[in-house]
Amino acid sequence: MEIIVQVAGEQHLEYAQEICRQIEESAKARGTGIAKRDPEYIKQKMREGKAIIALTETGIFAGFCYIETWSHGNYVANSGLIVSPEFRKHGLAKKIKEQAFNLSREKYPNAKIFGLTTSLPVMKINSELGYKPVTFSELTDDEAFWKGCQSCVNYDILTRTNRKHCLCTGMLYDPKWEEEKKKNPEPEAKKTFKLKEKIYERWLRFKAFVLLKDKDKNNDKKQNNSTVAKPEPQTVNA
Ligand SMILES: CC(C)(COP(=O)(O)OP(=O)(O)OC[C@H]1O[C@@H](n2cnc3c(N)ncnc32)[C@H](O)[C@@H]1OP(=O)(O)O)[C@@H](O)C(=O)NCCC(=O)NCCS
Repeated sequence: MEIIVQVAGEQHLEYAQEICRQIEESAKARGTGIAKRDPEYIKQKMREGKAIIALTETGIFAGFCYIETWSHGNYVANSGLIVSPEFRKHGLAKKIKEQAFNLSREKYPNAKIFGLTTSLPVMKINSELGYKPVTFSELTDDEAFWKGCQSCVNYDILTRTNRKHCLCTGMLYDPKWEEEKKKNPEPEAKKTFKLKEKIYERWLRFKAFVLLKDKDKNNDKKQNNSTVAKPEPQTVNA
């Protein structure tokens, strides 16, 4: 079945509700909290030509992603990536992310492009596009962006570590690196990442182990001081 991946526009507004539903459902399944998107916000992104949509030839929704700017346009984030369960593992997320990346480069050629994710597939795709894992201090310091983390179940980890660590990994693409790469060519990003894939996987597990252990300790302390029931342990779905 052919899937068409394109910049979304007015003609796609009718898909906004379904996109929000799928984003929310997948977040519930993964146990993450940054889930709810307002259909009106998604529609606005479509009208502004700041979203990528994937549909079958017959118009069945297959995937989506949009771009947002932060720090007065100095940073661009590609957010809200979703692929419908029946279209997963066929390289669709890669195509959508590639188009979102190209759109970001076209619209904001000097901006740094970044993302926060716990998803290994997304980390793989980002790496192939030229993103590198960075500390949170290298991402936007726009308070409005970080406010978006407030609805995540792990927000207390982010605040407890003074915004230094969380279960998500920050990844960044800096256009300046292109210039440097021209001067000092590196091996292909994909090859480099393939070598590190196992290390990333272990790193995600280690981070979850350490950060969730501390979270559990904090919860235990709180529980000792109150009669509130202990929450279910959280798991990471990379
Ligand atoms: C994450 C998600 C977008 C991936 O979509 P997809 O279309 O299945 O991804 P792709 O087929 O393009 O796969 C990209 C790479 O990740 C790998 N991959 C995909 N799903 C994987 C999984 N569950 N576990 C491990 N690797 C996986 C693919 O093999 C591919 O690697 P390769 O290039 O080495 O072959 C999709 O599973 C999804 O919508 N999940 C729920 C929402 C979500 O997690 N969004 C990301 C928020 S940051």
